[in-house]
Amino acid sequence: MQPRLASLGSLLEEGQVPPVRIINQSNRHFPLRLLLLWLLLGVGIAFTFLSMYTSLCVTEQAVDIPIARSRIQQCFQQSNTVQSWIRTRSSLLHEMNDKELFWRASFVPKIEKYPFDRTPKIAFMFLTRGPLPLAPLWEKFLKGKEKLYSIYIHSLPSYQPKFLRSSAFYGRQIPSQVAEWGMMSMCDAERRLLANALLDISNEWFILLSEACIPLQNFTTIYNYISRSRFSFIGAFDEPGPYGRGRYNLQMWPEINISNWRKGSQWFEINRELAVNIVQDTFYYSKFEQFCRPDCYVDEHYFPTMLSMKSPHLLANRTLTWVDWSRGGPHPATFAETDINDELFKTILHGGTCMYNDQHTDLCFLFARKFAPTALDHLLQHSSKFFGF
Ligand SMILES: *[C@@H]1O[C@H](CO)[C@@H](O)[C@H](O)[C@H]1NC(C)=O
Ligand SMILES: *[C@@H]1O[C@H](CO)[C@@H](O)[C@H](O)[C@H]1NC(C)=O
Ligand SMILES: *[C@@H]1O[C@H](CO)[C@@H](O)[C@H](O)[C@H]1NC(C)=O
Repeated sequence: MQPRLASLGSLLEEGQVPPVRIINQSNRHFPLRLLLLWLLLGVGIAFTFLSMYTSLCVTEQAVDIPIARSRIQQCFQQSNTVQSWIRTRSSLLHEMNDKELFWRASFVPKIEKYPFDRTPKIAFMFLTRGPLPLAPLWEKFLKGKEKLYSIYIHSLPSYQPKFLRSSAFYGRQIPSQVAEWGMMSMCDAERRLLANALLDISNEWFILLSEACIPLQNFTTIYNYISRSRFSFIGAFDEPGPYGRGRYNLQMWPEINISNWRKGSQWFEINRELAVNIVQDTFYYSKFEQFCRPDCYVDEHYFPTMLSMKSPHLLANRTLTWVDWSRGGPHPATFAETDINDELFKTILHGGTCMYNDQHTDLCFLFARKFAPTALDHLLQHSSKFFGF
């Protein structure tokens, strides 16, 4: 090989060989070079198409080759199959405004039985300002369960996330708008999360979480608890006094009476039917927007009241998210590094009993808040002792 290459190179150097031989040699070698060029061009074009289809059709998580290959196959086949209706979109970005998004998200099949294998997923929806400092704990919790969950994040529109490609949170930001506590914009953000999650037909249960929330059980326990429950878990109680019924505005009458008025924490778990109820609503929405303004905190009343009126038979009327109000004041307690110990989780996990499918149980809470970023290391270190993962 070496000598031949050398001679070819030297033949091409001008002046080294007689003119006649140059013509002879280039006649002999030109087609070879042309062939090489075409080959390179062909590979380049194929690669471009491949990466185009990959970015169009393959989710960011599908980093391993077999998954990517099957997604590409799906992508080529699916333009006129049922796959085109049920495929998980690769990107959560879209150009729809809320009105268009909510309309699209409100589609409900009228035939109840799915004509394909559907593994119902839990949509974990994070309503945050910006970073998710407890993300490593969630990643540990989610590990290996990729077929059973989806993640959605609503943060301030200005926030630029910095998740690694390998993270469960990578590329899971939905188009967001500014949301203020206690205002309708907060409910709008929650509806936006629900609507985006509804676009994926495999999402069956929708859980609203904050950046200060942690899971209290392993994934299997949480999945079974939620999927086997006949009821959805949203706090909805009739509270007398100034912070409950006191926030009702008589101008909502007669569409909403004081006996319909409910209160509950905003951190809910609801099924697909209730999620569609929330996204499609304009009737109660306008009442709450007009007549529930601070000191009426709309995120504590709108969904509990509306769902109690529309689908009371689907509600457990309690939340799955534990929180500590015992310290008093307008905000619940936040737990930091030094608060993380056996005692705390004993209190949370064995603090009382509740109803589950009309039976008494002492497993009442699957999530807890609020946890400070400094708590992360302790939580990670002892997660198997505390939570079983
Ligand atoms: C999950 O937790 C439950 C109860 O705490 C335990 O029985 C089960 O073995 C755990 N599962 C896994 C996969 O760790
Ligand atoms: C509210 O009460 C009025 C009578 O006081 C009744 O006509 C109306 O149907 C009630 N509305 C609801 C939603 O229950
Ligand atoms: C929740 O409350 C509604 C009334 O608002 C009631 O109809 C329903 O039965 C309650 N759910 C459970 C599980 O008790």
